[in-house]
Amino acid sequence: MPTKPQDINNSEAADSTENLTTQAIEEVARTDRSFDAIADHFEKKVYGGLKGDIRLAVLRRDIFDYCAQMSGKLGRPLRILDVGAGLAQIAIELAIQGHTLVINDISANMLDKAQASVVQGNENPEKLAITWHVCPYQELEEKLAGKTEKFDLIMCHALIEWLAEPIEVMDFFDQQLTDNGALSLCFYNPASFDYRNLIMGNFNLLDNTAYKADNKKSLTPNHPVAKEEVEAWLEVHHYHTVLASGLRVFHDYSPLKRGGHNDPEAVIRMELRYSQLEPYKWLGRYLHILATRHN
Ligand SMILES: C[S@@+](CC[C@H](N)C(=O)[O-])C[C@H]1O[C@@H](n2cnc3c(N)ncnc32)[C@H](O)[C@@H]1O
Repeated sequence: MPTKPQDINNSEAADSTENLTTQAIEEVARTDRSFDAIADHFEKKVYGGLKGDIRLAVLRRDIFDYCAQMSGKLGRPLRILDVGAGLAQIAIELAIQGHTLVINDISANMLDKAQASVVQGNENPEKLAITWHVCPYQELEEKLAGKTEKFDLIMCHALIEWLAEPIEVMDFFDQQLTDNGALSLCFYNPASFDYRNLIMGNFNLLDNTAYKADNKKSLTPNHPVAKEEVEAWLEVHHYHTVLASGLRVFHDYSPLKRGGHNDPEAVIRMELRYSQLEPYKWLGRYLHILATRHN
């Protein structure tokens, strides 16, 4: 279950935490992060421009091909779950392709936006097989019990870095995926934070090991999970990696917009190409791992 938010600003709580270190207070206060209060900000900052277009282009390529193949093999549309779906662009497109979707987010504001885009963008939105669940993903098992079979694909994009206990989501996937199901896990890459600050000369941020982004509106997660740790989780849970891509492997690192950088289509084309190439892909702002379970 998500950790309950603690009010460390009120004086009673402050008294009782007097003897705790700053780090311990922060641990007490760590919660899953709902985007309810920053839904507009997120939509504009992340998906209002080329950054978002690159993210979606890489995910579309990685996921749609795989779904078409899997659906062809099974001879039926897939059952797909998107947890922490936010604006749910990829999930909605998969529903338009004929798959059956369960779309979840803890934030009602985020899913309201996603639902509005379904209505705006489709002539017959009621024909799409989408079920919406506004709740922490931790409550989904109870809500889904007896109502749906296990999922062929679970998408979990840019969620783990906002969870108080990210590793726990792996047990949830175990319970909800079919035996040969696939996991599409996209997560913020902490190495990109270091690399960008090296390029920008922000050595003070790299020297300051206690650095935390100002958390009210910041979209830089304070608790990212390193690639090596995610890979270790996948191994323990018996996954086999089908593909790994980097999202935004150069776009965010170029302060000087010259040459091809002035052509958004060319940037997307190059991002798609280098997203799959070593060693560039490991510097993506986000990493996307598509993995299947082997039993
Ligand atoms: C960075 S956004 C990512 C949205 C979307 N998956 C994407 O890639 O654009 C993280 C989302 O996770 C949601 N979230 C945070 N904790 C959650 C939880 N315990 N269960 C479900 N959603 C959660 C937030 O409300 C937010 O919409």
